[in-house]
Amino acid sequence: MSSKRVYIKTYGCQMNVYDSARMADSLAPLGYSQCESAEGADLILLNTCHIREKASEKVFSELGRLRALQNAAAEEGRRLLIGVAGCVAQAEGEEIVRRAPQVDLVVGPQTYHRLPGLVTRALAGEDRKALVDTEFPTESKFDFLPEESASPGAAAFLSVQEGCDKFCAFCVVPYTRGAEVSRPVVDILAEAERLVKAGVIEITLLGQNVNAYHGEGPDGREWGLGRLLRRLAEFEGLERLRYTTSHPRDVDAELIAAHRDEAKLMPFLHLPVQSGSDRILDAMNRRHDAAFYHRVVEQLREARPDLALSSDFIVGFPGESDRDFGDTLRLVTEVGYAQAYSFKYSARPGTPAAGAAQSVPEAVKSERLAMLQQLLNEQQQAFNRKSVGQRVPVLLERAAKHPGQLVGRSPWMQSVVVEAPARLLGHLVDVDVLEAHPNSLIGRVVTLSEGNDMNVVEPPQSAAGAATRAMA
Ligand code: SAH
Ligand code: SF4
Ligand code: F3S
Repeated sequence: MSSKRVYIKTYGCQMNVYDSARMADSLAPLGYSQCESAEGADLILLNTCHIREKASEKVFSELGRLRALQNAAAEEGRRLLIGVAGCVAQAEGEEIVRRAPQVDLVVGPQTYHRLPGLVTRALAGEDRKALVDTEFPTESKFDFLPEESASPGAAAFLSVQEGCDKFCAFCVVPYTRGAEVSRPVVDILAEAERLVKAGVIEITLLGQNVNAYHGEGPDGREWGLGRLLRRLAEFEGLERLRYTTSHPRDVDAELIAAHRDEAKLMPFLHLPVQSGSDRILDAMNRRHDAAFYHRVVEQLREARPDLALSSDFIVGFPGESDRDFGDTLRLVTEVGYAQAYSFKYSARPGTPAAGAAQSVPEAVKSERLAMLQQLLNEQQQAFNRKSVGQRVPVLLERAAKHPGQLVGRSPWMQSVVVEAPARLLGHLVDVDVLEAHPNSLIGRVVTLSEGNDMNVVEPPQSAAGAATRAMA
């Protein structure tokens, strides 16, 4: 088997990050190893996002750049294959092959277990038009993918649910990812066990609508997300659990109870609300009003008083008046967020809202976005400032920009930068927070010399004590 290189460029959400890793796994049996840049690759895959117009346009400009690379490879007598995967692949399908002659194959989010076959057929010279696979197959790709091969690091994603049946009026996801499907509990537990054995300390369960999870349990009954989280919390060595993205409508009593009872379930929740106006929430088909969202937040905070929240917002949805936007600002003020994402509404072809009248002028959207972001930034900074002087557990995940520094996450998803030797990577350490910046915290690892011998939680299979001694 010859050795070849695949470069995968990932756009969009965490689900795509997870899928990219699994696509790499699926190609390993063909002799492909993953490389970090497009130069010198034998296969380039763009794992794309269709959520807003800008996101999908990026793909076509990137394809333009890749064409030059493909031509240069051809001049050297090498064949460079280019594939488009993900949500743009699903939405545009054959149109991509028509528009972009450099694309050799197109594969959707539910068919990427067939990627090795497509690559083999492309190399054998099959016509590109036959190499578009955007079916929603009856089989589950998870039953055909090989086990994860790459080393996962300290924090890993695990897909438990895919697709969406909610059909919010603005959103392409139900069309690009298809109907909601939950993976069986035993499959998830097996994957989690492999991750923990490989040294993973934190698992984030993924789904477009993760708390709509209702997979088949080992008892033959349906398990909800709360039950699944409780089971995962029993894993020794696994110290942190998170899940994303959740829908307010699917926060049930079991999930709230898990937040109350499971210390491993981190006190941070991304719970998108999109708007604070009942009129707009209704037009968006979100299926709840602002009062309902407040009640859900209240129940969660009762269960877990230190819970921090994050959200997504859309400004300038068709028909959004100044008053509606004012309701959004009010909701933000009332709830109080630790962080949030906000976007200008982007009309997406094929979605119910795309043809709506009463579109909001671009300038008004920009103005509202700036106002909302200012408020959200103030809240984020206030939240970060409250951490100064606190001692927080941080999972050190990667090297920081400056040599000698590592970055990790607090339980509340804040990035925390510390001076620490590289051997502390993958460890959970106690950190005294010294400074708060808009997007990160600066801290100092609590050392043994201060009499704290609990500050490093060893991942399994590591040289026990080495890191703690080194810090003393
Ligand atoms: N499943 C998640 C969201 C997935 S999409 C949920 O239900 O909340 C991520 C975010 O992109 C959404 O929360 C929304 O804020 C934003 N988004 C989706 N479609 C959009 C559009 N057409 N224009 C602008 N923002 C959009
Ligand atoms: Fe899109 Fe709404 Fe489904 Fe979220 S719940 S993925 S916003 S349709
Ligand atoms: Fe984008 Fe698809 Fe994720 S549209 S946000 S990559 S589900």
